[in-house]
Amino acid sequence: MATTGRVRPSPLLAAWLALGFAWHCALHHAPAAAVTLSTASRWVVDEAGDRVKLACVNWPSHLEPMLAEGLGKRPVGAIAGDVATMGFNCVRLTWPTFLVTNASYSSLTVEQSFQRLNLTESLAGIRANNPAVVDLKLIDAFKAVVSSLGENNVMVILDNHVSKPGWCCDNADGNGFFGDGYFEPDVWVDGLTKMATMFAGVPHVVGMSLRNELRGPRQNSNDWYK
Ligand SMILES: *[C@@H]1O[C@H](CO)[C@@H](O)[C@H](O)[C@H]1NC(C)=O
Ligand SMILES: *[C@@H]1O[C@H](CO)[C@@H](O)[C@H](O)[C@H]1NC(C)=O
Repeated sequence: MATTGRVRPSPLLAAWLALGFAWHCALHHAPAAAVTLSTASRWVVDEAGDRVKLACVNWPSHLEPMLAEGLGKRPVGAIAGDVATMGFNCVRLTWPTFLVTNASYSSLTVEQSFQRLNLTESLAGIRANNPAVVDLKLIDAFKAVVSSLGENNVMVILDNHVSKPGWCCDNADGNGFFGDGYFEPDVWVDGLTKMATMFAGVPHVVGMSLRNELRGPRQNSNDWYK
């Protein structure tokens, strides 16, 4: 019997609410743990056949320094946690092909990559906020970002954005279409293969987008439909 103006839920109701909340959480967070997504007609489904809706945010890691943006500002785990808190369950994490195919990039540590570009202030920020990545090779720093997203139940789509690291996209930037200056098809396939192999055993990496925005004067319907 309620003796005050405030109605208290019965223990049973409270239990139901708690269960409902747990179920709600499970619905929203379980997909990141799903090993395999597939399609059923128009739906993306998990292994239990339950629908999974991808709510992805883009996180660029394809620009000249080849490190996920913002690590000079905040710890990777704090950013990954915020992605989840804001209601996203997925990140489209961009990468440039040369990160894994071209030794003049793939051999660099985070520190070397930022020093090469004279990004002294950003490097100091990374040292303060993410000291653990400073001496890592760029690809290992990329893996650390992927791991952190997984720890926060965020799924990852690896997005091949450009070949040569830098801002995307311009029709004449050499990254637009097969045969452009930096877009050799065999190198592209090699890069995709390396990334697919590297992340094949990581359950929360659920997919790859094969190339961002094919474009430029070389694109043509014969090649598109080949
Ligand atoms: C490696 O990167 C350099 C510098 O961007 C570029 O000139 C060269 O074409 C690249 N090599 C390959 C094999 O992609
Ligand atoms: C970095 O600074 C050095 C020394 O001032 C300069 O020679 C070099 O061109 C700069 N590099 C870039 C990418 O701005």
